[in-house]
Parts: sequence; C-alpha cells; structure tokens
Amino acid sequence: MATEIQWLGHNAWAIQAGEFRLLLDPFLNDNPLSPKKANQVEADFILVSHGHGDHIGDTVEIAARTGATVIGIFEVCQWLLAHGVKNVHAMNLGGSYTFPFGRLTMTLALHSSSMPDGSYAGNPCGFILAREEGTVYFACDTALFSDMKLIGAVGLDLAAVPIGDNYTMGPADALEAVRLLKPRRVVPIHNGTWPIIAQDADRWACQVHAETGVEALVLQPGGMIVL
Ligand code: NI
Ligand code: MN
Repeated sequence: MATEIQWLGHNAWAIQAGEFRLLLDPFLNDNPLSPKKANQVEADFILVSHGHGDHIGDTVEIAARTGATVIGIFEVCQWLLAHGVKNVHAMNLGGSYTFPFGRLTMTLALHSSSMPDGSYAGNPCGFILAREEGTVYFACDTALFSDMKLIGAVGLDLAAVPIGDNYTMGPADALEAVRLLKPRRVVPIHNGTWPIIAQDADRWACQVHAETGVEALVLQPGGMIVL
C-alpha cells in the first residue's frame, strides 16, 4: 500500500494513504503557492494543526462537500461543529489513535492558536503519521523545542519542518531541529508563501545535508514524495 505525500504549498498537504485520501491544513483558495483550489480536492479525512487562517484554510467548505472527518484538537473540533462540520474526531497533545489510514499522534507545537473569528482554539499541534511504509512527522507551525529529540526517537522516515522564520522557526533553528529529529529525509515548509517568510530553501537543504547527512528535499508546490 503506497503512501504518496503531495505538498500544496505552505503547510498544505494531500496524502494518499492506501485507499484513503487525507488533507493536512488545506489552505488552498488564498494560498498563492497552491496549485489546487478547494473545489479541486477530495478527502476522507482532514487534519488541522491549529486555528490560524493559513492552516484551517478551506476546511469547512471541503468538509461540507466531501463529508470528510476533520481531526484536530478538541477546541478546534468544537468550533468546526458549531460551523456546520458534521464529522470530527477530537484529539489532544500526546494522544495517539489508530485510524483506518494509520496511527496518528498529536504532538506538541510551540506556537499560538485562535480561530479566524477570534474564538479560543486550544493549543496548536503537529502530527506523527505512522504507516507500514514509514513514519512522517509534520511539525506544522512551531518554534524549535528540545523535545523534538523525543519525537525523533520513534524513528522518522520523513520530517516536514518550517523554515520561514518570523511566524515559526527560521533556517538556523530548523537545522537544529533536524539534528534533534534525525529523520531519514526532511522537507522545508512554511516558506515562500509571502515575502515576509521568503527563504532560500535550496541553500538550507545543502546546509542540512552538509552538516547532518540527512537528505533534504525541496519540493515545488504540487511536488510529491512517495514513502
Ligand atoms: Ni500559525
Ligand atoms: Mn502558519
């Protein structure tokens, strides 16, 4: 069973996990990097890392059209239910659950969170997705934190880490994150969406490989990784 992970720019991902279609942080319509609009994607499950508009994105619209189950932290799920989303699965930090598409763990993220209307959104999070083909860590919006060492201890085939700076960790801290996570491969995200988070991802990737030996892949929007 293949696992195909497609980057839609920023922290938006479309994941084909065997027969299941997943979206993570589907910020599509207002995402200048996304090759797809909200009405062009399908989903059985939508993972949401936190309430900020560039992550919750088009979740409500896509869930309404597809009937997808939205997975997020408790407070985000409560808000989604109040905004017409029918199917949610609430989790919280440190919790894991075995979904039909694989085992998902909700991890710590050092960031803030509120819904686009200002509602309380609980804590932000990242995700570890474990499937037979491999284990992927989506750091999502976060600062560097030393517990990334514990996250890496599970053995990561792939990690997606922000390098954009300003709203999340920047290139130097993201390099440190790679040292803690020790993934087999790493992908930089949350950069280039707007000038304020523009970074030289290729230069970062070269530096990561030179200093850690980890294979760093720079994806173009729409680019895909197969586990
Ligand atoms: Ni954010
Ligand atoms: Mn963000």
